[in-house]
Order: sequence, then C-alpha cells, then structure tokens
Amino acid sequence: RPAGDCAMVMFGVTGDLARKKLLPALYDLANRGRLPESFSLVGFGRRDWDDAEFARQVKGHVQERARTDFHENVWEKLAAGLRFIQADGFEDDDAYQRLGQVLVDLQDERGTGGNHAFYLSIPPNSFEMVCQKLSSHGLARRSQSPEDPWSRVIIEKPFGHDECSAHELNQAVERVFASNDVFRIDHYLGKETVQNLLALRFANRLFEPLWNNQHIDHVQITMAEDIGIEGRASYYDGVGAARDVIQNHLLQLLALTAMEEPISFDADHLRREKEKVLEAVHVPTDLGAASARGQYDAGTQDGADVVGFLQEEGFDPASTTETYAAFKLDIHTRRWDGVPFYLRSGKRLGKRVTEIVVMFKRAPNLLFTEADENQFGQNALIIRIQPNEGATLRLASKVPGTGMEIRDVDMDFSYGRSFTEESPEAYERLILDVLLGEPPLFPRHREVELSWRILDPFIQRWEAMDEHPEPYIPGSWGPASAHELLSRDGRSWRVP
Ligand code: BG6
Repeated sequence: RPAGDCAMVMFGVTGDLARKKLLPALYDLANRGRLPESFSLVGFGRRDWDDAEFARQVKGHVQERARTDFHENVWEKLAAGLRFIQADGFEDDDAYQRLGQVLVDLQDERGTGGNHAFYLSIPPNSFEMVCQKLSSHGLARRSQSPEDPWSRVIIEKPFGHDECSAHELNQAVERVFASNDVFRIDHYLGKETVQNLLALRFANRLFEPLWNNQHIDHVQITMAEDIGIEGRASYYDGVGAARDVIQNHLLQLLALTAMEEPISFDADHLRREKEKVLEAVHVPTDLGAASARGQYDAGTQDGADVVGFLQEEGFDPASTTETYAAFKLDIHTRRWDGVPFYLRSGKRLGKRVTEIVVMFKRAPNLLFTEADENQFGQNALIIRIQPNEGATLRLASKVPGTGMEIRDVDMDFSYGRSFTEESPEAYERLILDVLLGEPPLFPRHREVELSWRILDPFIQRWEAMDEHPEPYIPGSWGPASAHELLSRDGRSWRVP
C-alpha cells in the first residue's frame, strides 16, 4: 500500500545515516511506487546549500547507495519535491519560520495535505530543543480527529543513556507529540528475518509446544560484526556495545523470542507482550558473573593489519568503552524459569553474523550406545537473522552403514532458495510504516525504559570499576571471560 500525501522534514540530512540509508531508502520507495506524487522532502541543516545543490547531493547518495535501479524519470519526480532550509543550528528561530512557510507552499503547490513527518537523525541531546521549536512555531500539531492533518516524529537511537535519561527524553518528546505519533527507530525490527520470528513461532504448530523450559536448555543471541569503529569515535566513545546494540537490537530479539503469543499483531498487543518479557527479565545479584566485556586489540583480520580500539582515530587512549559485551539473563516466568538467555555482541569478531540459537535439551534415555551421547542429539533451531538469512534445524540422524552410529545433521531453510521476492531494506520498510501511520514495528517508551532497567546495573558496575575491558584479538570470538560466562554453566557459545 503506498503512503498518502505528505512531506518529510529531515534534521541531520547531511549526516552519515541519511547519506547511507535514509535518502537511498526514500528513492527506493519512490521507485517501487510507494510514495505519493505529492511527496516532498525538506532538508534542514547548516550547509550553505540552495534547493538545487541539495538535490545534487541527494542524487549522488541515491546513485551510490540505492538498492533499486536508477531511473531518471523516478528521480525527476522525487527531485521536484526537494527543498533545503539553511539553519544556524537547531535553535535558529528564523529557520523554523522559513520551514513553516516552505511547508505551507508545498501543501499548495504539491498537495502534501499538511501531513508532516519530522525525522530527527541527530544527536539525542538536541531532540528536546527541536521538538520544542517545532511546537512553538506551530509545526507539530496534535490531530484532534483522524481527518486532521498529522504530524509525526521519527527518532533514532540512542534513546538516552540509562533509564532515567530515557524517561526524561520520552517525556520531552511526548510533551510535544502524541505518543502514537512518536516513531522510535530500531532498524532491527525492520529486518525481514526479525519479523519472520513471529511467523516461525506463531504460524507453525511445530515449535510452540516445545517453546518452554521443559524442552529448551538455553538460548543464545549473537550479533557479531567484523568491522571496527569505522570513524564513529564521536558517537561510540562512552557508549560501547551494551548501549549501542544490546539495549535495543538484542533485547528486542530476546523479547520477540520469549514473548507470549499476542492476541493480534496490533501495535498495542504486540508491544504489551514484549514489555511483559522485558519486565520479567531478572537482573542477577552477581553482576560480574553474569556479564563480560572486552575491547579489541591491534592484530590482523582477513590478512590485513588492523589497529586496536585505543589507537582508532578520535579516541581517548585511556577509553574504557567496551567493543564487546555479553550477558546472561533469566526470565522469571513459568515458561522460562531455569532457561538462561545469553546475549553477546562485538566489533571485530570472526565474521558478520546475527543469529538466535534455541538449544533444546537432549532426549531422555538414549539407547544409542555406539556413540558418545554428548556428541549428538542436542537439537537446535538456529534462526539466521543475517547474512544467509534463513533457519536451520539441527537433528540427530543415523549414519548410513550396518552399525547404529548417530551424527547431527542440518535441515535448512534459506530465503535465497525458497523465495524469489526481494526483502526490502529495513529503513525502507520502517519509513513507509511511519508514513502509513503503522506503529507495530516501533518500540514505545516503556519498552525502551525497561530495556535500560535491565542494563543499567551492569553498566553502572563497569563504570564504577573504571577498569580497562579485557582485550581480545581481532577476528576471534571475544574475550576469555565471555567464554567463561557459558563454560561455568557447562555450555559453550556456538561458533557461527
Ligand atoms: C547500529 C549500530 O545500530 O547497528 C552500529 O549503531 C552497528 O554500531 C549497526 O554497526 C549494525 O547494523 P546491521 O544492520 O549492519 O547489523
């Protein structure tokens, strides 16, 4: 379904995310016929650009990064709705005045219907200021009825740096915009494979009877990256792996894996179930034994020399920011009691992979004496979020021959083999949902605050210790303490 008439105002339009993801995604949406003829994009920034220069810049990013083919006629239509507001910072009242006028003109000239999405791709410490300015200039309007034009705001993580700051931020944004008009982007929720978790769990009969502590031994959620910091020092220093990706992406994956079946996929129902899981996550008293953190050292990766985190440009050489974090969490519900969820994420690891591994208990009373029973028979469902999207079910099977030797084999589903349809890029899906006013894929403020509540005690402990995280070798699977986190429980991380 294409979006209705509207305009988008993008703050931070010259930033990395806009260049790499947001602007190309808008073109892809236009190319797939998902944007209305009236769609207009207003960039708001410091650069000394006019509309023509803005269009030239956007075209460059689109040609470089869009996933769909470049068609001059699609581009021309999109380009006709591009405007740029030159501002001396986010507090520049005069710029908001001009923005207001441009939005009125776009409504008259292009028929945007006065519907506006404000995309704040900017540091969170400016969210409050921009929201207030939009409000005081009469640009953020609360609709009184469904027929009224809408004003929506899109915010990018980090949503605060702990529970308290997240709460303040949420309040500041929701003082101006109605909570239903606030769209918090967690781009993992826009990934096809993450949405497929709901289908795997609730469209199949097979898994649900086994999805509990009677049959599941533990769950591992891994988000590994082989890249380093990639010049993002100003963002990453003082943030670290836990705040960067575990507070949001990984805890969302945990919530979707562990939640009860919602009564529908409506935003309220879905979010309520996710919140219940996050609320039931138990923060252990021995925080040290339930967590690990590391920082990548200098070394080689894929045959090339790479610098250590502390030598990366822009970092304080004494920085204690972690580039790897792992946690063991328990969920205190009848379904999950006694089933640990192990979460880990890191930069410069063995390879780029995100997966959820559901490890089942072994079958009781194994009759197969010819083999060491610890070598087979731990069924696992491995949900591959990326790359090589799909899922694998690991089963024990008889090795052909006269004996009764048993070996584990894989039953494999891959998107590439099963579907000819292409998956939309996460941002494409999420931006379209904002324009359509579809909130299910966006966490609401309570989810965000509950996620912080889980991580805060760990992070506070690390900060109080003020020690260097344990170094690890680039291309490895993280620091020794992360392996101990599982070996203490007689388990080990799956090597993806
Ligand atoms: C972002 C993090 O949210 O996700 C980055 O800020 C990380 O540090 C990125 O690199 C990874 O996203 P993806 O989609 O490539 O897994």
